[in-house]
Amino acid sequence: MSDLDVPAFVEGQIEAIREALGAEKALIAVSGGVDSTVSAVLTHKAIGDNLLCVFIDDNFMRLGEPDMVKAMLSAPPLGLPVRVLDERGRFMEALEGLDDAEEKRKAFRDTFYQTLSDVAWAEGCGFLVQGTIRADVEETKGGIKTQHNILEQIGIDPVERFGFKVIEPIASLYKYQVREVARFLSIPPEASERQPFPGPGLSVRVVGEVTADKLDQLKAATAVVEDAFRKERPSQYFAAIMGGGSTEAPKILRREAAIALGMEQQQLLAWYLSEKATGVIDGKRTYGFVAAVEAKDAMGRPVNLGYESLEKMRVAIQSNFPEVTRVLQLIAGREDDEGYFVVMRAVESEDFLTATVSSIQWPILEAAAKKILSTCPKVIKVYYDLTPKPPATVEFE
Ligand code: XMP
Repeated sequence: MSDLDVPAFVEGQIEAIREALGAEKALIAVSGGVDSTVSAVLTHKAIGDNLLCVFIDDNFMRLGEPDMVKAMLSAPPLGLPVRVLDERGRFMEALEGLDDAEEKRKAFRDTFYQTLSDVAWAEGCGFLVQGTIRADVEETKGGIKTQHNILEQIGIDPVERFGFKVIEPIASLYKYQVREVARFLSIPPEASERQPFPGPGLSVRVVGEVTADKLDQLKAATAVVEDAFRKERPSQYFAAIMGGGSTEAPKILRREAAIALGMEQQQLLAWYLSEKATGVIDGKRTYGFVAAVEAKDAMGRPVNLGYESLEKMRVAIQSNFPEVTRVLQLIAGREDDEGYFVVMRAVESEDFLTATVSSIQWPILEAAAKKILSTCPKVIKVYYDLTPKPPATVEFE
């Protein structure tokens, strides 16, 4: 049973939006995700064609996504007025040379709002509608998350900086409540049940600098992981890519891992990967080491260790080495020294404030990893992320 009176919420919000906007025109950036779609539909019901929906093609969408999303939003029953903006060059340029995740997010955010500001001026829109939800606001205030669409909460005055006022019709809702509203509004399941996708898209899942090459490999790997994991219905599932390169992890880490797994130390390798990744330590967002464990059989093939032992191992590692924000398990690799690492991630979560790791079965993990190696020629190792949130974040950035 839901704690939200959905029809009353919808009616109340449509009225509130109508009152706030009056005869003004408004703009919304739609992505095909449930948050922006619900916000667009509510606003469209309130002010009709005074709402302009833009889909910004920033180059960080998944394969085929721009066309699919435009078709879904423009077709009945939604019939939203959607315009696609090809801004791929602008975004790639804005992120060029940046390798720090926070700097990339900031550059993305600035470009995103500058693009919207340009449209708002050209079209005379005095308002920007945003699909910010409750977790975004809470986590940004708490310092756990840097969400792309939070402005006022981080001290940016949108009117002064971009020339529009912001309204956020679903900021009081949690994700599962947004989905309830979406179903009530007859939003197609491709949107109402779609897994979350971050505003800056695949740019956050390219760890380190976003290059065309890494992005291409990530798009291919993402399609494989989505295909392979969809049937398991995790709350969120995706791939991330990082530059290859690693150094041996501390000897005690390897020993702790072996003890937790009930294995001989010689059967295990443990690495610290060269690039760091986000986590939550003491309730704050931070960067930490990524520890990768490789357990192989006599033939040198990665082995299935079972989630219970793997969780014991992860806890042993992270309680002894709090600087480690992620623990990964090798699923498949090839004997090349040079290339990228791909990390597969799948989590279970209701509100995305916390999350547990999905117990995807070994044959599915292995088949996906092998397919990634065969479709992404520059990827040399594929891992599965064993870390819940906290101490990791849901995204891998
Ligand atoms: P984290 O990684 O912060 O993610 O644990 C929690 C949830 O939020 C999504 N996420 C975002 N969504 N814009 C969004 O619209 C963003 O900038 C953003 N960053 C993270 C993430 O995919 C997960 O569902």
